[in-house]
Amino acid sequence: MRRVQIFDTTLRDGEQSPGISLSVEEKVEIAHQLARLKVDVIEAGFPITSEGDFESVSRIATEVKGPTIAGLARIHQADIERAWEAVQWSARPRIHTFVGTSDLHIEHQMRSNQNDIIAGAEGAVRLAKSLCPEVEFSPMDATRTEIGYLAEVVAAAVEAGADVINIADTVGYTTPVEFSVFLQELQERVPGLKERVLSVHCHDDLGLAVANSLAGVQVGAGQIEVAVNGIGERAGNASLEEIVMALGTRGDHYGVEVGVDTRQLANTSRLVSNMTGYEVPPNKAVVGRNAFLHESGIHQDGVLKDRRTFEIMTPKDIGLEGTNIFLGKHSGRHALKDALEELGYTLEGEVLKRAFTRFKEIADHKKTVTAADLEAIAADEVGSFEGKFVLDSFRVVAATGRQSRAAVTISHADHGTFEAEAEGEGPVDAVFRAVDAATNIKGRLTDFRIDAVTGGKDALGEVRVSVEFEGNEYGGRGLSQDVVEAAARAYVRAVNVYTASKLGAKRISTPAAP
Ligand code: KIV
Ligand code: ZN
Repeated sequence: MRRVQIFDTTLRDGEQSPGISLSVEEKVEIAHQLARLKVDVIEAGFPITSEGDFESVSRIATEVKGPTIAGLARIHQADIERAWEAVQWSARPRIHTFVGTSDLHIEHQMRSNQNDIIAGAEGAVRLAKSLCPEVEFSPMDATRTEIGYLAEVVAAAVEAGADVINIADTVGYTTPVEFSVFLQELQERVPGLKERVLSVHCHDDLGLAVANSLAGVQVGAGQIEVAVNGIGERAGNASLEEIVMALGTRGDHYGVEVGVDTRQLANTSRLVSNMTGYEVPPNKAVVGRNAFLHESGIHQDGVLKDRRTFEIMTPKDIGLEGTNIFLGKHSGRHALKDALEELGYTLEGEVLKRAFTRFKEIADHKKTVTAADLEAIAADEVGSFEGKFVLDSFRVVAATGRQSRAAVTISHADHGTFEAEAEGEGPVDAVFRAVDAATNIKGRLTDFRIDAVTGGKDALGEVRVSVEFEGNEYGGRGLSQDVVEAAARAYVRAVNVYTASKLGAKRISTPAAP
């Protein structure tokens, strides 16, 4: 069977989803899990966009073994050199360079012309190839590019040495049959493409990203670009788990195979959901919590007799069965580390120490610490590792018909300890105001969500906030059996993400003219 490569862009396109802002530690953690999942390529980030992106791509290239590690770059020399600086540490580095090729992009976004774009693309691929053994080139908005011109750009990139040509349906505009005809024609017009890997990168604006990608495979695509849980710009990218299970379950139809270990799919989906705060809809194909539930009597009866009557995949195929995690207050650090590894987390050193302390605190108050609790603790500790501010303690007085009053003590890694008090409309508002006063950084709360991690009155509460500082939004997550404390931790985390982002270079959002 023909082998199709799975190129994961959760950490790059996925991270461009509105409201997602992963820390370096969180990205490294996700990359380790992607390696356990055995994807072929991890697009670890866009190194020129910020110090944080550069650091996470460099760390992933250094630490994560197995997959190819790719860094994104526009066709500018500085982007390509920066991407190389970051990916060079990998045993399998790749530079992925891209430029818009549709008239809309060339005229209105890049304010350039067709000839300059071809020359720019060719030069960029040559430069990238002189630095890095493997180069991918993407014509952005390819599906809205006139096919004759697209063929010229692709031929130039192939001629310059691109190993992978990635046809991007950037705005999710194409349809499956149209896309396969388009790709066939492109292959006919560019004979050199046969010697290279043809890749597809589809967005989900019309809900067709998976169908379009699979149509690409049927006409020879050897690489599919995907993201875990389908996250990504706007409506997202093709969902990794749907693509992998479609190709596996319907191998008879597609006649291709992938190297992914499907038993890691459920873990990976939960890890990414926990870290990004993007919940998986219950009815989501493959990894939604209802994907293997049977409600009607007829279905239940059939499944009890033989699962195959109403299931085309089993929960075991995606790793939903077989975890025997049960930890209590007597469990040690090794047991915690092993359990976390089984759940897809590789915690080491200081983070593991802190997760262990949290686990002990929680195990003292909660009868059973479940796999869901452990995942929430791990995600929380990985996410809070980089912050300079730490919530040491808080006190709150709340009563019916009165303003609440809160006092907080917050320490800063470089500047000592600060105390402050404030009043607010309820305990959460009062604590947030007290944090503003203690840190001397004023934020505006734009979103607040609270969930119980498991059932029961002793469940852990998980709070997610979005806070606006200087016109930009920053996310935070907090976990505690006390929901006011969870809220305070989430808010302090958002302050930490904001202050850390001020230290690094600002993110760029729109590619400028080459
Ligand atoms: O959607 C897109 O065009 C992209 C490119 C960078 C491949 O993400
Ligand atoms: Zn994209």
